[in-house]
Amino acid sequence: MNSTERAAFRFERVSASPLETLEIGEELAALLWRGSVVALRGTLGAGKTQLVKGLARGLGIPDRITSPTYTIISEYEGTLPLYHMDAYRLRSEEEFIQAGGEELFYGEGISVVEWSERIEGLIPGDAVLAEIDITGPEERRVTIQYPARRENP
Ligand SMILES: Nc1ncnc2c1ncn2[C@@H]1O[C@H](COP(=O)(O)OP(=O)(O)O)[C@@H](O)[C@H]1O
Ligand SMILES: [Mg+2]
Repeated sequence: MNSTERAAFRFERVSASPLETLEIGEELAALLWRGSVVALRGTLGAGKTQLVKGLARGLGIPDRITSPTYTIISEYEGTLPLYHMDAYRLRSEEEFIQAGGEELFYGEGISVVEWSERIEGLIPGDAVLAEIDITGPEERRVTIQYPARRENP
Protein backbone atom coordinates (compact mmCIF):
# COMPACT_ATOMS: atom_id res chain seq x y z
CA MET A 1 0.00 0.00 0.00
CA ASN A 2 1.48 3.29 -1.05
CA SER A 3 -0.48 5.89 0.85
CA THR A 4 0.88 8.86 -1.06
CA GLU A 5 0.00 7.54 -4.49
CA ARG A 6 -3.44 6.31 -3.59
CA ALA A 7 -4.56 9.31 -1.58
CA ALA A 8 -7.54 10.96 -3.23
CA PHE A 9 -8.31 13.27 -0.36
CA ARG A 10 -6.18 14.32 2.56
CA PHE A 11 -6.61 16.64 5.48
CA GLU A 12 -4.50 17.60 8.44
CA ARG A 13 -5.47 18.79 11.87
CA VAL A 14 -3.33 20.07 14.68
CA SER A 15 -4.48 18.96 18.11
CA ALA A 16 -3.38 20.93 21.16
CA SER A 17 -4.83 18.60 23.80
CA PRO A 18 -6.23 15.10 24.39
CA LEU A 19 -9.71 16.64 24.21
CA GLU A 20 -9.03 18.06 20.76
CA THR A 21 -7.83 14.66 19.54
CA LEU A 22 -11.07 13.19 20.87
CA GLU A 23 -13.01 15.79 18.88
CA ILE A 24 -11.05 14.97 15.70
CA GLY A 25 -11.97 11.32 16.21
CA GLU A 26 -15.59 12.29 16.63
CA GLU A 27 -15.49 14.25 13.37
CA LEU A 28 -13.84 11.35 11.60
CA ALA A 29 -16.72 9.08 12.62
CA ALA A 30 -19.06 11.17 10.50
CA LEU A 31 -16.90 10.50 7.43
CA LEU A 32 -16.98 6.72 7.74
CA TRP A 33 -19.53 4.21 6.63
CA ARG A 34 -20.46 0.55 7.02
CA GLY A 35 -17.41 -1.57 6.33
CA SER A 36 -14.84 1.25 6.59
CA VAL A 37 -11.38 0.27 7.74
CA VAL A 38 -9.15 2.87 9.40
CA ALA A 39 -5.43 2.08 9.50
CA LEU A 40 -4.10 4.04 12.46
CA ARG A 41 -0.40 4.81 12.70
CA GLY A 42 1.71 6.63 15.22
CA THR A 43 4.19 5.81 17.93
CA LEU A 44 3.45 4.82 21.52
CA GLY A 45 1.64 7.65 23.28
CA ALA A 46 0.81 9.46 20.04
CA GLY A 47 -2.90 9.41 20.85
CA LYS A 48 -4.22 6.55 18.74
CA THR A 49 -6.45 5.20 21.49
CA GLN A 50 -7.56 8.74 22.29
CA LEU A 51 -8.65 9.20 18.66
CA VAL A 52 -10.59 5.93 18.81
CA LYS A 53 -12.39 7.17 21.95
CA GLY A 54 -13.62 10.11 19.90
CA LEU A 55 -14.61 7.83 17.06
CA ALA A 56 -16.62 5.74 19.53
CA ARG A 57 -18.31 8.87 20.83
CA GLY A 58 -19.16 9.83 17.26
CA LEU A 59 -20.77 6.42 16.80
CA GLY A 60 -22.83 6.91 19.96
CA ILE A 61 -21.04 4.21 21.92
CA PRO A 62 -21.50 4.79 25.67
CA ASP A 63 -18.91 2.21 26.81
CA ARG A 64 -15.53 3.14 28.17
CA ILE A 65 -12.95 2.41 25.48
CA THR A 66 -9.82 0.67 26.68
CA SER A 67 -6.73 -0.23 24.71
CA PRO A 68 -7.08 -3.67 23.08
CA THR A 69 -3.33 -4.29 23.23
CA TYR A 70 -3.79 -7.63 24.97
CA THR A 71 -7.19 -8.64 23.64
CA ILE A 72 -6.26 -7.64 20.04
CA ILE A 73 -9.92 -6.98 19.16
CA SER A 74 -12.67 -5.24 21.15
CA GLU A 75 -16.17 -4.94 19.75
CA TYR A 76 -18.65 -2.20 20.62
CA GLU A 77 -22.22 -1.54 19.53
CA GLY A 78 -23.05 1.93 18.28
CA THR A 79 -24.96 3.37 15.34
CA LEU A 80 -22.58 0.96 13.59
CA PRO A 81 -20.50 -1.75 15.27
CA LEU A 82 -16.97 -0.65 16.09
CA TYR A 83 -14.10 -3.14 15.95
CA HIS A 84 -11.17 -1.65 17.81
CA MET A 85 -7.99 -3.56 17.06
CA ASP A 86 -4.38 -3.31 18.12
CA ALA A 87 -1.62 -5.10 16.22
CA TYR A 88 1.18 -3.98 18.53
CA ARG A 89 1.80 -7.34 20.16
CA LEU A 90 1.24 -9.53 17.12
CA ARG A 91 4.18 -11.56 15.86
CA SER A 92 2.62 -12.32 12.49
CA GLU A 93 -0.25 -11.46 10.20
CA GLU A 94 -1.39 -15.06 10.61
CA GLU A 95 -2.03 -14.36 14.29
CA PHE A 96 -4.34 -11.50 13.34
CA ILE A 97 -6.24 -13.73 10.92
CA GLN A 98 -6.57 -16.38 13.65
CA ALA A 99 -8.01 -13.78 16.02
CA GLY A 100 -10.73 -13.08 13.43
CA GLY A 101 -9.48 -9.61 12.58
CA GLU A 102 -9.18 -9.90 8.83
CA GLU A 103 -12.72 -11.23 8.53
CA LEU A 104 -14.06 -8.21 10.42
CA PHE A 105 -12.44 -5.89 7.86
CA TYR A 106 -15.04 -7.19 5.42
CA GLY A 107 -17.89 -7.13 7.94
CA GLU A 108 -20.64 -4.65 8.68
CA GLY A 109 -18.91 -2.49 11.23
CA ILE A 110 -16.14 0.05 11.28
CA SER A 111 -12.68 -1.40 11.90
CA VAL A 112 -9.93 0.71 13.42
CA VAL A 113 -6.46 -0.81 13.75
CA GLU A 114 -3.77 0.67 15.96
CA TRP A 115 -0.25 -0.20 14.74
CA SER A 116 -1.69 -1.10 11.35
CA GLU A 117 1.82 -1.17 9.84
CA ARG A 118 2.38 -4.47 11.66
CA ILE A 119 -0.26 -6.14 9.50
CA GLU A 120 0.26 -4.02 6.40
CA GLY A 121 -0.32 -6.94 4.04
CA LEU A 122 -3.84 -7.46 5.37
CA ILE A 123 -5.04 -3.85 5.23
CA PRO A 124 -7.61 -3.46 2.42
CA GLY A 125 -6.55 -1.18 -0.43
CA ASP A 126 -9.45 1.17 0.22
CA ALA A 127 -8.68 1.71 3.91
CA VAL A 128 -8.63 5.22 5.35
CA LEU A 129 -5.18 6.06 6.69
CA ALA A 130 -4.91 8.08 9.90
CA GLU A 131 -1.49 9.04 11.13
CA ILE A 132 -0.66 10.87 14.35
CA ASP A 133 2.68 12.61 14.86
CA ILE A 134 3.87 13.99 18.17
CA THR A 135 4.86 17.60 17.52
CA GLY A 136 5.06 18.82 21.13
CA PRO A 137 4.35 17.73 24.70
CA GLU A 138 0.60 18.22 24.17
CA GLU A 139 0.58 18.84 20.43
CA ARG A 140 -0.21 16.26 17.78
CA ARG A 141 -0.58 16.43 14.01
CA VAL A 142 -3.35 14.20 12.72
CA THR A 143 -3.28 13.38 9.01
CA ILE A 144 -6.25 11.62 7.46
CA GLN A 145 -6.00 10.22 3.94
CA TYR A 146 -8.80 8.79 1.89
CA PRO A 147 -7.97 6.46 -0.97
CA ALA A 148 -9.26 6.87 -4.47
CA ARG A 149 -12.52 4.98 -4.93
CA ARG A 150 -11.92 1.50 -6.25
CA GLU A 151 -14.07 1.95 -9.33
CA ASN A 152 -12.34 5.26 -10.13
CA PRO A 153 -8.62 4.48 -10.11
N1 LIG B 1 -2.95 16.40 21.85
C1 LIG B 1 -3.00 15.17 22.39
N2 LIG B 1 -3.75 14.22 21.83
C2 LIG B 1 -3.79 12.97 22.34
N3 LIG B 1 -3.12 12.56 23.42
C3 LIG B 1 -2.36 13.49 24.04
C4 LIG B 1 -2.26 14.82 23.55
N4 LIG B 1 -1.43 15.51 24.37
C5 LIG B 1 -1.04 14.65 25.31
N5 LIG B 1 -1.58 13.44 25.15
C6 LIG B 1 -1.36 12.26 25.99
O1 LIG B 1 -0.74 11.26 25.20
C7 LIG B 1 -1.22 9.99 25.59
C8 LIG B 1 -1.87 9.31 24.40
O2 LIG B 1 -2.22 8.01 24.80
P1 LIG B 1 -2.92 6.97 23.85
O3 LIG B 1 -4.10 7.57 23.21
O4 LIG B 1 -3.12 5.74 24.65
O5 LIG B 1 -1.76 6.76 22.75
P2 LIG B 1 -1.48 5.51 21.80
O6 LIG B 1 -2.73 4.70 21.71
O7 LIG B 1 -1.08 6.14 20.50
O8 LIG B 1 -0.33 4.76 22.42
C9 LIG B 1 -2.22 10.20 26.73
O9 LIG B 1 -1.54 10.04 27.95
C10 LIG B 1 -2.65 11.64 26.51
O10 LIG B 1 -3.05 12.27 27.70
MG1 LIG C 1 -3.17 2.68 21.98
